[in-house]
Parts: sequence; structure tokens; C-alpha cells
Amino acid sequence: MKEIYDLIISRRSIRKFEQKPIDTEILKKLVNTARLAPSMANLQPLEYIIINDHLTCEKIFNCLKWAGYISPYGTPKENERPVAYIIVLANENINSDYKRDVGAAIENMIIAALSLGIGSCWLCNIDRDKIRSILEIPNKLIIDSVLALGYPKEKPVVETLTNSVKYWKDEKDILHIPKRSLNDILHINRYQTKI
Ligand SMILES: Cc1cc2nc3c(=O)[nH]c(=O)nc-3n(C[C@H](O)[C@H](O)[C@H](O)COP(=O)(O)O)c2cc1C
Repeated sequence: MKEIYDLIISRRSIRKFEQKPIDTEILKKLVNTARLAPSMANLQPLEYIIINDHLTCEKIFNCLKWAGYISPYGTPKENERPVAYIIVLANENINSDYKRDVGAAIENMIIAALSLGIGSCWLCNIDRDKIRSILEIPNKLIIDSVLALGYPKEKPVVETLTNSVKYWKDEKDILHIPKRSLNDILHINRYQTKI
């Protein structure tokens, strides 16, 4: 129990990766954790594409926008790019209210990946038209998100949010992530009661 808690609170979005491949079998295992995630009315509107061949990875990389607050300094350099991606697709004909399913599925994959030492970054600032054409995705499927994956080559740090939500890089190129304090967001038994 403690192990999972520690894993979850240690998770950070990673944007610098070792150039070590991730086996297709591992990526399939990650999608399996998404497959079994909670799903509204158990409708299961989501589908996935695994990408781990170098050429397709390069094409997908060109469809992504990284770390908007610090652009271009959060964009992975040539030798630090993700080595795999999982594209998350949604079928609106199965459930148009699919967004929460996506959240549950992606978080499962992120945490499962982390337990195997694999870092990730969830991306929605993506060129969907380009991705659709590169991967020949049928129009009936919405391209919701891209999960970029690879063994981490950076260790971002969390700090307590004071006046800005904007993450920032220090002079050692370490990414700092401001997060609201527990006291700020938690209410016990009644809204007015704080910890
Ligand atoms: C729905 C969603 C979309 C995101 N899209 C992007 C994106 O397009 N590019 C990017 O670099 N990071 C993206 N992120 C990552 C966030 O920037 C990151 O989660 C946030 O800064 C907090 O950092 P942390 O994940 O390390 O806690 C996205 C995260 C979420 C949940």
C-alpha cells in the first residue's frame, strides 16, 4: 500500500528520455491496464495505438507541443526524445461522454509505466489532423491524447504553489512544479472545516 502511495506522489511529467527502447510486450501490458480501468456504464469507448518504431516516433514527435509555459525549453532535444507513444482514441458513437474514461485509463498507464521505471508525459496540445493522417485513423474515432514514454533522464521537483501555477526551470535545468497545498484544497466533513 505504502509503495503505491510513494509511487503516485513521486510521479512527474517527464520530457527528457534515455534512448533505450521499450519492448512492445511492455507497451501492451500498459494498454492492458487502460483496458481494465473504470469506464462509465462499462461502455468502454476507448482504443489505443502503440508506436515504438523509430521512424513513426519521429513523425509523431513533430505533432506535439511541449511545456507551453517554458517553451521552447521543455521540448525534448534530439537525443532525449520519447522512444514510444500510446495514442488514445475515443469512439463517440459508443459514449460521447468519454473524457473521464480517458483520465482513468491514462492514469492507469502512467502509474503502471512508472512501476516499471518508465517515465511519461500526457499530451493534449497535439496536431490531431497530422496524427490522423500519419496513422491512418478512421474519422469515426476522436484522437484524445498522446502518452509519450521512455526511461526518464530528468527528475523534476514539486514545490508548494505560492502565486503562480507556472512550472519553471532553474539554472541547473531542473524543472520545478508548483502544486496547491493539501490545506488549500481539502475540506473535512463540511466545506468550511479545514485540516
Ligand atoms: C490533460 C492533460 C494535457 C496535457 N498536455 C500537455 C501537452 O500538450 N504538453 C506537455 O508538455 N504537457 C502536457 N501535460 C502535462 C502537464 O503540463 C503536467 O501534468 C503539469 O505541468 C503538472 O506537472 P506534473 O505532471 O509533473 O505533476 C498535460 C497534462 C494533462 C493532464
